Amino acid sequence: MTATTPDACPHSRLQAPWDALAGHVRHGLPSLPGLFAADPGRATRYRARGGPLLLDYSRQPVDDAVLQHLAGLAAAAGCQQALAALHAGAEVNNTERRAATHTRLRDPSASCEQAAARARWAFADRVRSGDYRTPKGEAITDVVNIGIGGSHLGPALAVDALAHGIPRCHFLSNVDPEGLARLLPQLPPRSTLWILSSKSFSTQETLLNADAVCEWMDRKAAPGWREHQLAAVTANAAAARVRGISDALTFGLDDSVGGRYSIWSAVDLPLAIALGSEAMQAFHRGAHALDCHALEAPTSANLPLLMALLGIWNRNFLQRPTQAVVAYDNRLELLPDYLQQLVMESNGKQVQRDGRPVACATSPVLWGGIGTNGQHSFHQCLHQGTDAVPVDFLVPASGQQPQAQHDVLVAHALAQAHTLAFGSASPLATPPADPALQAHRHMPGNRPSNLLLYSRLCPETLGALIALYEHKTFFESVIWGINPFDQWGVELGKRISQAVQPALQGGDPALTADLRASIDSLLSLRSPS
Ligand code: F6P
Repeated sequence: MTATTPDACPHSRLQAPWDALAGHVRHGLPSLPGLFAADPGRATRYRARGGPLLLDYSRQPVDDAVLQHLAGLAAAAGCQQALAALHAGAEVNNTERRAATHTRLRDPSASCEQAAARARWAFADRVRSGDYRTPKGEAITDVVNIGIGGSHLGPALAVDALAHGIPRCHFLSNVDPEGLARLLPQLPPRSTLWILSSKSFSTQETLLNADAVCEWMDRKAAPGWREHQLAAVTANAAAARVRGISDALTFGLDDSVGGRYSIWSAVDLPLAIALGSEAMQAFHRGAHALDCHALEAPTSANLPLLMALLGIWNRNFLQRPTQAVVAYDNRLELLPDYLQQLVMESNGKQVQRDGRPVACATSPVLWGGIGTNGQHSFHQCLHQGTDAVPVDFLVPASGQQPQAQHDVLVAHALAQAHTLAFGSASPLATPPADPALQAHRHMPGNRPSNLLLYSRLCPETLGALIALYEHKTFFESVIWGINPFDQWGVELGKRISQAVQPALQGGDPALTADLRASIDSLLSLRSPS
């Protein structure tokens, strides 16, 4: 039996289903082994399919009654109506007075957006095929994306997951000069295409890296290199022009596309060069299929809505502050990084849309890694730590050959989900021989997880996967009543860093005692140059 204190209800219109769910928690929930014993059919009933993805949520601590109240919560919050409003272009980002148009970008009926994508992908195909040439007649061998946050994480994830071969794609994001120092020796200056990707074109990290790169290219590349080897992706074309980037190589995106949703916009340029236009169409097709599914499927069959409701159940009723994502798929190694921005920049908020404090907890801390590597590091804590961490296990049915080795990978994933749920109560567990170790070897079980299964990672599946998590995140924001499309929390730190920087360079700006002391400590440790 599990007993926790549920959070307060975030909005009066959710009160009835919220109270009903809280009642289930107060009366104590059966454990997962108990739920399976009472209803073995849940193993095949608690699943849903959306596009190429199959969700098995039978190892979540819910029964039919809880699921029914969770569906009531979604209905009371108007989750699907809110998604329909987003699709229709409503001003869902109320603090910045904007729509959020990422789903339009992958909608085949949105003709303007499709025309822009086709033109961009045609350019990408030319670079990819070697038809596009530098001033000295060379084909592009290397592409470097300079950008950070949403202007980095999406293309980095998708390139790492799906691309191989020439042109090679590289990513320069952090302002740490180490990144540049490691990258430059790998690059042929005469056949490298640089993409300055910044929606605002004002992000300090990106502009400083761009300056350093331009200085290096001015020394190493052929005169006039900028015209052919420096591209921009931005909503601020004027700022790109000021930096000498030609209009022909400037690819626009709209202000209404949030950074963390911008892989569907021109921010995809390095990915399109790496994969080609056919694969990009498949990537969009997978995401659009999930959009239609999220809008149309009833709650009991709606993958992102079910995942959002289970997320709310774990976060607000069972008090689980973190969420892990573990892909048994090496190609998704960067997925946790990507999802951290998507989920935590969207829903890491403490006020509702009207600015009033939100009464319940919001975004869990998202973290993760790949299996089986995680089994040899953080899974100990998942199994026997004092906090239960809900896990999404992502598992491809097929992968690289040999299939027998892939089967070992998959067996590990299934064993982890089972062991988390059943622990020592598993009929497959053998009791420890040494009674002195009984307590140490005890596995509490009753730890929740989702299995997210797919055939094989391909552009379509990755598109669907990203859209799935986008909609899950959106549905949660609707229930919490928060705006998932702004990110005011990142601004103050940026501004304070502007005040700190002169002090590190010998200036004497007015600073607080804590900063002054930290700076003095750092300066005292600086090695003489
Ligand atoms: O600092 C946060 C942020 O604004 C993200 O939301 C965004 O993806 C990132 O910075 C990069 O912004 P830009 O594309 O304007 O350089």
